[in-house]
Amino acid sequence: MKRTVIKSTGRYVPPRVVTNDDLAKWMDTSDEWIRQRTGIEQRHWIPEEGGVGSSDLALEATKIALDRAGWTPADIDLIIFATLSPDIFFPGPGCLLQHKLGLNSTPALDIRQQCTGFIYGLATADAYIRSGLANRILLACAEVHSTGLDISTRGRDVAVIFGDGAGVVCVEGIETDQDVGVLASSLHANGEFAKSLMVEAAASRLNPRISEEMLREGRQYPVMDGKTIFKEAVRSLPDVSREVLQKAGLSLEDIDLFIPHQANMRINQFFQQSLKVPEDKVFHNIQRYGNTTAASIPIALDEALEMNIVGDGSTVIFLALGAGLTWGAVLMRLGG
Ligand code: UT7
Repeated sequence: MKRTVIKSTGRYVPPRVVTNDDLAKWMDTSDEWIRQRTGIEQRHWIPEEGGVGSSDLALEATKIALDRAGWTPADIDLIIFATLSPDIFFPGPGCLLQHKLGLNSTPALDIRQQCTGFIYGLATADAYIRSGLANRILLACAEVHSTGLDISTRGRDVAVIFGDGAGVVCVEGIETDQDVGVLASSLHANGEFAKSLMVEAAASRLNPRISEEMLREGRQYPVMDGKTIFKEAVRSLPDVSREVLQKAGLSLEDIDLFIPHQANMRINQFFQQSLKVPEDKVFHNIQRYGNTTAASIPIALDEALEMNIVGDGSTVIFLALGAGLTWGAVLMRLGG
């Protein structure tokens, strides 16, 4: 039977570290507030002068993942790129990454889905593989948030959360009788909450798409109703975990590690308490990276593998909720 496995992982974050105290120089905030409300201690941002896009971060992580998989770029059948912060408005970073890899005809599919980008990307890769449309897929997830944040006090609720970074996985279809790879996935969306977390401008529905007045009002920056998103995450993430467990015919005790999107450590602690699973079964690294949106889960997986918290044979659930709203989970047995 055809199974979709993660053959290798890679991560890359830009070297510039921005601490909570650094942020407190630009806006009315404090290390104490940020740690208490989010768990974040620092994040990595690209150089202040810019010049680094999501596809550049993804390229660095891709080189590592390809090397570990023993693939060359020519082995890739399809690139799936998940981001909410593309290098430019269009074309998407999938094409930019493809070119940087020295390829000139490999298909590149860009997806949005924000914090749920990795989950949607992995479920999409699984569907491509099972249908026979592709067998070796590069799933690249990368974000450059720092150039799009309002780092004045007006934007402090959002600006303190986000970090830049990339996480990449090489996904492959294998023929096996073993119960490995993607065992179940569930995807959801509810556009009713689109306004709860969005960047409005530049917007094709506005004419002009952006104006001096809009810039003054800060409509080019993300706005978030943090409390609504928090409430929805705490409600939906346990539900979607139970959903994939039921689909796979497994129970909570079968899961070695939950790797949730790193949006806020308190959300993931609520999740852990709600499911009544031991603390050490829920992975956290938000302290060091902040919220890297689509990249957060593949970065976390890469670290969990490096730390030997999981390995071949481990059963994991990846799960996320974010702008859209979109949410979902993928249950996987690693290895194969
Ligand atoms: O990955 C994308 C999905 N996003 C999420 O999952 C985010 C979910 N939401 C959250 O993580 C939280 O709602 C936040 C961390 C964004 C905010 O935490 P909160 O506990 O909901 O705080 P709040 O918005 O209710 O604000 C409480 C107070 C307010 O002051 P007053 O009105 O009580 O005087 C805010 O103005 O904290 C103030 N505040 C800040 N103070 C210092 C908001 N941001 C900051 C800040 N520093 N950065």
